[in-house]
Amino acid sequence: MIRRLLALALVWTVPRWLPGRVVALRGRIFALINGAEGTAVASRADGISEFTRLYAAPAANGRSHGAGLSDLFWYWLAPGSHVHQEHLEPGPRYDEVARTTRTVLASLRHDEWDALVARCAARVLGEYRSGRVVRLRDVMMPIWAEVYYELVFRERCPRQVRELIVAHADDVVSALKCTRLRHMQRRIRLTQYLRRRIAAGDVPFTLPNLLSADEQAWYLQGTFFNTAVVQMSEATAHLLLVLAEHPGVQARVRAGDGAYFDRVMDETMRVYPLFGIAHRITTADIDATPPIPAGSVLLFEYPKFHHAGLPDGAAFDVERWHAESARTLNFIPYGISANRPCPARGVAPTGLSAVTRETLRRFRLTSSLVFGTYMVWAARRQGLCRRYFAEHPEHLPQLRARATCPAGGAR
Ligand code: HEM
Repeated sequence: MIRRLLALALVWTVPRWLPGRVVALRGRIFALINGAEGTAVASRADGISEFTRLYAAPAANGRSHGAGLSDLFWYWLAPGSHVHQEHLEPGPRYDEVARTTRTVLASLRHDEWDALVARCAARVLGEYRSGRVVRLRDVMMPIWAEVYYELVFRERCPRQVRELIVAHADDVVSALKCTRLRHMQRRIRLTQYLRRRIAAGDVPFTLPNLLSADEQAWYLQGTFFNTAVVQMSEATAHLLLVLAEHPGVQARVRAGDGAYFDRVMDETMRVYPLFGIAHRITTADIDATPPIPAGSVLLFEYPKFHHAGLPDGAAFDVERWHAESARTLNFIPYGISANRPCPARGVAPTGLSAVTRETLRRFRLTSSLVFGTYMVWAARRQGLCRRYFAEHPEHLPQLRARATCPAGGAR
């Protein structure tokens, strides 16, 4: 009985302990790949108090060259990892690429972003019936594929192109999570499509001039059809899953309390930051105790930083954003403004809010994990099979005498 109760408690608490374990394992693997030169900043003696200072240090500006992790990231993001904004070293090519991304993201006003995301969400969500069990990321990806297609090409996304983008983004994120091998053909089909559109003059803004035609296609693919689609799909999936797991929070958000929704969004990103680890390679010595020499790989572990300094830092609790202590929370969901922050930090919350609104307008969310756990418990409690045979012993299977094979063995 006790063993059964323990097993049940283990299953019931899976959502509490499993994600943290997976993230911690990923962190350990990353640290291992980086070998001796990798420094996990949050694990240093003064790591948490020095975290943002070290992250913002001008010498913490190397992005790819010199880190064991870079080969892995470039492999995951291929083709065109060398022009992916996140992995370009500082210099004129980076400046031009970053400027283009900023310009494109800023080309819509907030109300236009809201309308675009709501329109795409309504179209995609309209394809789903109530009562269906879904994986949230699978529902979100087509929405963000349509949004970013329309942002780039200023026209409605054709169905077959949406499928091309989703196949590509899904392939990248599955490889990143190590749940599937890369499927390069899927990715190259999108590159070829983008090359054709660029050659036809269909892109209504100036692409970075310092990039070749191939590189321009990889830039669009990497920033808007990989990073944007993957990050927004993951962020909306996290947010909706949190609402599914907290029916009280969901009810209050559904009632339209905007300020409360902002706190829910912040708490979701505090507990489940999209970035596990960001890394930088130092290009000069950094003054710290102990000192950090040039050429070090600094690993900035978001979950450790976000959860630090609180007795229950990994627990989801919207109310902590109410309290006076909210100002002291460690919270950098979009990175550090002094060191290559996320260019979408100004527009992402509008999109997250629009998708949540459209989803809640159509569906009540419940988590199948909680559902599943509840059903295991309810099934055991009701004992339908056990009770049936207790009441109808005449239907029990007839026990047959064991037949003995001529050679003497049982079958
Ligand atoms: C809720 C959604 C998002 C979150 C939480 C997020 C988070 C982040 C974080 C933490 C970083 C900094 C990592 C570092 O320091 O190395 C970053 C960088 C970046 N993000 Fe986002 N992101 C989101 C959405 C997006 C979207 C929609 C785009 C696409 C347009 C985007 C494009 C980028 C790029 C290009 C960088 C690299 C910046 C640079 O190195 O110059 N992100 N993001």
